[in-house]
Amino acid sequence: MNDNLHQLRCIGCGARIAGSKALPDFRCSLCGDLFEVEYPGWGQRRGHDRPNAGALKWLWRERRCSSEALDHSGVWRFRELLPILDSFGNAVTLREGNTPLYHLPRASKALGIDQLFAKHQGMNPTGSFKDTGMTAAMSVAKERGYEWVACASTGNTSAAMAAYASRAGLRSLVVIPDGKIAWGKLSQAMDYGAVTCQVKADFDGCLKLLIQVVKEANIYLLNSVNPYRLEGQKTPAFEIAEAFDWNVPDHLIVPGGNLGNSSALGKGFREMHELGLVARVPRISVIQAVGANPLVRSFETSHGTALQPMEAHTRATAIRIGNPASWRKAVRVIQDTGGWCLDVTEAEIAIAKAELGSEGLGCEPASAVTLAGLKKLRARGDVSPGETVVLLLTGHTLKDAEYTIEFHRGTLLRGEETVGREAEIDGLRRNAQAVEATPGAVLAALKGRAG
Ligand code: F0G
Repeated sequence: MNDNLHQLRCIGCGARIAGSKALPDFRCSLCGDLFEVEYPGWGQRRGHDRPNAGALKWLWRERRCSSEALDHSGVWRFRELLPILDSFGNAVTLREGNTPLYHLPRASKALGIDQLFAKHQGMNPTGSFKDTGMTAAMSVAKERGYEWVACASTGNTSAAMAAYASRAGLRSLVVIPDGKIAWGKLSQAMDYGAVTCQVKADFDGCLKLLIQVVKEANIYLLNSVNPYRLEGQKTPAFEIAEAFDWNVPDHLIVPGGNLGNSSALGKGFREMHELGLVARVPRISVIQAVGANPLVRSFETSHGTALQPMEAHTRATAIRIGNPASWRKAVRVIQDTGGWCLDVTEAEIAIAKAELGSEGLGCEPASAVTLAGLKKLRARGDVSPGETVVLLLTGHTLKDAEYTIEFHRGTLLRGEETVGREAEIDGLRRNAQAVEATPGAVLAALKGRAG
């Protein structure tokens, strides 16, 4: 690895180590906190010492037309901002990133915000935002000569890791909570060839177990405690800035689970700002499910200085996490950018997901917390009509088809969860109907649905 270009800095005590010296669990040996990748000198660059922003922006855009695999990746085309490899020839890519930014006309109108967009990270090769992080950390694993990689997961990390490991020619071990992940995700880990262990524990228990395993065997941990994951996951920040011609939006709204993603995006915007590529950073807000809201509680009880782990429950299984590893990083991002942290109910998530579906986008339940959260921020007056808002949709709608079908059949939510929202939910449900195989019966089914 080229340690001249990067080092790891502990976010707790500030200790700095070479990238190759990290412990198997990526915790600081002095204080136990997490590391982040640091590029010495970037923050101090002033005037002529700064990179030529115009030239970089031109180069990054130009690479999209190149025939090189690395240039086609929405992560590696920004490689000047993630110099973590000795040789970029070691990069393992599936052409991740370069995901679409969609305008949301219906939600815009309903909320009275003109400039409302969704950055759809579900349009990545394995159907979630995890691919952008996995390409980075898997490339490090390959360059450092590991044979095995592993992760604990609520499903998407395992799907991404299994795919990238196979592309890299490495073996992968997945530890997942038995019965608590969506079938689409489990099927991916199997198909991409991972050794998949379903254990009787929640995500937090799976991660704890896996950390004991990697301390005993020479296996490279690919959860988001691995700081190289976040280097890849910061790149959607660059794409968002690029899409707005380097005038960043006012708000970015992100779901919160293990809190790696919000941390990564915050880092991406911070670094762009430090390097003079953008003039300011957006407010970054993190939204959790009410039943899995340890960060919301942390802000309520201690202004983000302490986090009490909780037993998490939500049908948005991707974010069913009660003891998020990267909570300190996420607190810093929210506080530094002036964002908020709030939670939304199961009914609010289901409604927001159906609304995104009716815009022709769709996403998995965990992603829909962003729209549900925006509604609350708008109602509180924290987002005003003239501001530009980007929702980060993290996973593809086909990841969890069972959730969608249950919503439309009316079997997803319990009666007490829908009180006061029955009409809204009924207006969004589109259950499939059994009809006779005659034109008359099909035409009859259209009645009442026209217009
Ligand atoms: N959205 C989706 C679709 C996810 O899969 C996850 C996390 C999140 C949001 C939350 O992101 O953890 O960075 O705050 N999924 C992980 C997994 C935990 O194992 O796939 P976060």
